[in-house]
Order: sequence, then C-alpha cells, then structure tokens
Amino acid sequence: NWSMDDFIDLSIQHIRETVGDKKVLLGLSGGVDSSVVGVLLHKAIGNQLTSIFVDHGLLRKGEAEQVMNSLKGKFGLNIIEVNAADRFLSKLKGVSEPEKKRKIIGNEFIQVFNDEAQKLDGIDFLAQGTLYTDVVESGTDTAHTIKSHHNVGGLPKDMHFQLIEPLRTLFKDEARELGEKLGMPSDLVWRQPFPGPGLGIRVIGEITPEKLQIVRDSDYILRDEIKKAGLDRDIWQYFTVLPGIRSVGVMGDGRTYDYTVGIRAVTSIDGMTADFARIPYDVLAKISTRIVNEVDHVNRIVYDVTSKPPSTIEWE
Ligand code: XMP
Repeated sequence: NWSMDDFIDLSIQHIRETVGDKKVLLGLSGGVDSSVVGVLLHKAIGNQLTSIFVDHGLLRKGEAEQVMNSLKGKFGLNIIEVNAADRFLSKLKGVSEPEKKRKIIGNEFIQVFNDEAQKLDGIDFLAQGTLYTDVVESGTDTAHTIKSHHNVGGLPKDMHFQLIEPLRTLFKDEARELGEKLGMPSDLVWRQPFPGPGLGIRVIGEITPEKLQIVRDSDYILRDEIKKAGLDRDIWQYFTVLPGIRSVGVMGDGRTYDYTVGIRAVTSIDGMTADFARIPYDVLAKISTRIVNEVDHVNRIVYDVTSKPPSTIEWE
C-alpha cells in the first residue's frame, strides 16, 4: 500500500541517485510547492542545494521573514535572499495596465533570478515544484516545460540545467500532506494561493509605495481576523484590493476624503470557478473597523459579492 512515508523514502533515494555529488538550484517563491521541494531536497542532499528567494517587494506583510525564519532558520536551507523591491517598483512606475504590470513583474523576476544564478558556480540541476496538474495542463508530457508566471521562465542560453521535479506525480493536497510529514509548519503548508505578481495586481492601476502599504496592511488585518474566526481553511482565497477611488467620510469633527478598500473572499475547488464566501456579518464588521482604525488613509470598506464567472477572483 502506497503511503507518504514510502514516497519520501523513495524520492530521497531517487534524488540522491540522480544528483550524485553535483549541485542543485531552486527558486523559492514562498508558496507551498517550492517550499516543500526545498525541504525535501535539503533532506536528501543537504548543502548541495542552493535556493534563491527573490523578494520583489510585492509580498504580503511578514511573508519574507516567515519564509526565511522557517526554511533557513528552522530547516537550515542555504538560501540567498535577494531584496529587489526597488528594482521592481522603478520598472513599474507609471504603468497601470494589468497585463503590462504582469509582464514587467514576470520578466524582472527572471532577470533577478538569472543574475543571482550566474554568480553561482557548477550548478547542474534546477529543481522545480511542478505538480501533476501542471504537467497535465501543459498539454502533452512535455516533461520539461517551465512554468512561466512563477519562478524561472527563461534561462540564459549558456546555462544548461537538468530539471528535478520531485512533486510531478502529486496533487496539491498530496504536496501539502508531504509538507506536513516533513515537519513543515501548517501556516506554510496550508497557505492560500498567492499570485506570482503578488500585491502588484491588488493595487488597481499604477502601483505607488503608499498604495502598496495600504493593501499590505489591510490584507494583514483581514488574514488575522479570518484566522481568528476559524475560517481560514474554509475560504479558498481571501485578500484586500485597493481600487484607487476615494470617497468622503467623517471622523471626529472633520471630513475625510480617503481610499476605499475592497475585501475579496471566495470559496472554490481550483480557482476556475468561485463563489463569494459568506463571511458572517460580525466578522466583516470587525475586519472593517480594524482596517479603518489601523490603516491610514482608508475611510470605507466594501465587500465583493460577485462570483466567478462573471467576475474573476483577482480584480486585475
Ligand atoms: P482569476 O483572477 O483569474 O484568478 O480568477 C484565478 C487564480 O489565479 C491566480 N492568479 C494568478 N497567479 N499569476 C499567478 O501566479 C498571475 O498573473 C495570476 N493572476 C491570477 C489568482 O490569485 C487565483 O488564485
């Protein structure tokens, strides 16, 4: 009978046989899949694995610290952390069209990753968190298609890597189970999906540091309250967006003219279709009060009550 313990033993054995005494590179995104691959590979080959974690400045509050504390601190992975926030923000300056933003973020990501990878010597293998569903979606068994919007899209021609994809036969829930078996914290393993372009597509239109801050801080409060209400496993994805409109409000004796924050929370199986989550009103009230009180320049909160279709989950 197939069990996760057998899977771990077999893949560690397989990884060791494949890699021998060579070196492996991994792009960590902070998501479940690449993190699980990192921990599994580290268990198999220790410091023959080098990981690169690119912080594009569009991550959620506390995310980079959490990844580093857990994967580097607790599990001992050798991780090169690249803080590229300024680089991304300056490339995104003045850009408001969603697909353009995505393209810029994606391209920049590849460049930053490659710049770091070039500095390393003697890497023979590139590890990826490809899941069974990714393999199927990419059509034929083109084994070695590289996911475009996540980590590594195009590698320089002078870099010849062989791919290692230990999760290729697993579904998402199995990858999570594997992570738990490997002793990874449930915060990491049960993480909700997070898009590659990150908060960059949750600030509608042009991204400014001030708007990014509002989305990041409000998202943090939303996540905190959803967790406290015990809803974090029931709601498939939940986050805040900043549409960029301002409206009139009143605070004390004064009139305010500040931003509106939108809350998006959906239930879904795979993100292809989704229904807006029926968050209890008192939980919404708490979230609303906290965001307005704790985040500067926000005076109004709205809840998105559309499903997908006709809406998408993200607003951009
Ligand atoms: P939509 O908004 O299309 O989102 O209903 C469906 C799922 O995909 C995620 N998403 C992305 N993920 N790069 C990603 O890696 C992207 O550009 C991107 N756009 C949307 C979204 O968060 C949801 O889980």
